[in-house]
Amino acid sequence: MAITGTDINQAAAVLKAGGLVAIPTETVYGLAANAFDGQAVLKVFTAKNRPSFDPLITHIARPEALAPLVTHIPATAQALIDTFWPGPLTLVLPRSAKISDLVSSGLDTAAFRMPRHPLLQALLTRLDFPLVAPSANPFGYVSPTSAAHVSHQLGNKIDYILDGGPSKIGVESTIVRCTGRQPEVLRLGGLAVEDIEAAIGKVAINTASGSRPSAPGMLLTHYAPAKELLLGNIEELLGENPQRKIGILSFRKKYPGYPNFVLSAQGSLTEAASNLFAGLRWFEQQDVELIITEKVPDTGLGRAINDRLNRASR
Ligand code: TXA
Ligand code: MG
Repeated sequence: MAITGTDINQAAAVLKAGGLVAIPTETVYGLAANAFDGQAVLKVFTAKNRPSFDPLITHIARPEALAPLVTHIPATAQALIDTFWPGPLTLVLPRSAKISDLVSSGLDTAAFRMPRHPLLQALLTRLDFPLVAPSANPFGYVSPTSAAHVSHQLGNKIDYILDGGPSKIGVESTIVRCTGRQPEVLRLGGLAVEDIEAAIGKVAINTASGSRPSAPGMLLTHYAPAKELLLGNIEELLGENPQRKIGILSFRKKYPGYPNFVLSAQGSLTEAASNLFAGLRWFEQQDVELIITEKVPDTGLGRAINDRLNRASR
C-alpha cells in the first residue's frame, strides 16, 4: 500500500528511482513518473490500465523548461503561457525528440502543462526532469480530487501519495492545441473558454468525442461513475423512474427524502466544479442504483461540468 504524506524529499527520491508518485495539482491528482525514464513511464500505463494510444501530459516547473521539449512555440501559445501559466491550461504543441513515442503515443505533437499547486511546484523544482502525469484514476473512471480517492483506487500500485489537500479547481485542465492556424480547445476544463478568448481572441472548440476524438482520452464512455447516471430535468426523471432506488446530484436545490448531493447551494459554478467528482463518488457509498442529475448553467466552468456530466451519462 502506498504511504500518504507531505514529504517532497521522499516523493523526489521515489521519482528519481523510477517509481510512481501520486501528485496534487490544482485541477485533479496526477499519477507521476520521470518523463525521461521509459520504464517509469510504462509503469504509469500499466498502473492505470491505460491504452498506449492515449498520450500523456508532461508537467514542467517553469515556462523556460518548455523550449527543449518542442520544435517551436507559436505566438498564440506564447501568449497563453504568459497569461495563464502556472495554471489549469495544457497546451498541445509540436514536440521535439526529447519527448518519447511512448509519452506522445507516436504523435508528432505532445501536451504540456505548468501547474500552480505550491507543493507540486516545490517538488518539480527539486527534479532535473519533467513529470508525465495522467489523472490518478483507473482508465475510464472519474478523476481523483483528494489523496484518499487515489489511495482507494490505486493505492496498491504506486509508491507514494503526496497529499496536497483537496484539489481546488476539481476538473481537469483545459487543453488547447496550438499547431494549426487557429488554436483549438480539445478539452473543456478548469480554465474557462471565455478567459482564453479574452486573452487571444476567438478559439475553435473541438471536443467532439467518439471512438476517434482529437484528444484521444476523450472517449464517450469516459468519466463513468460506478452507477448508471441520467442527465436531464430532475423532476421529469423522477416521474419516469418510479420503481428505482434513486440518488440525486443537483446543482443548487435540495431534494429531501433522497440521497442527495448538492454541488453548490449558493449556485457557484466554481464551487460546483470543485465538488463534482467527490459528488459522483459519494453515490458509491449510498444505497442507490440510479443517479439522476441536471445540467448547470453553460458558462465559465459550467461548460466543463456539463461536458463531464454528458460523458458520465452514456
Ligand atoms: O488537469 C489535468 O490535465 C490532469 C493533471 C494531473 O495534470 N491530467 C490529466 O491527464 O487530465 P489525462 O492523461 O487524464 O488527460 C490528458 C488528455 C488525454 O485526453 C489525452 O488524450 C490528451 O490529454 N492528450 C495528450 N497529448 C495529446 C496530444 N498530443 N494531442 C491531443 N491530445 C492529447
Ligand atoms: Mg484522465
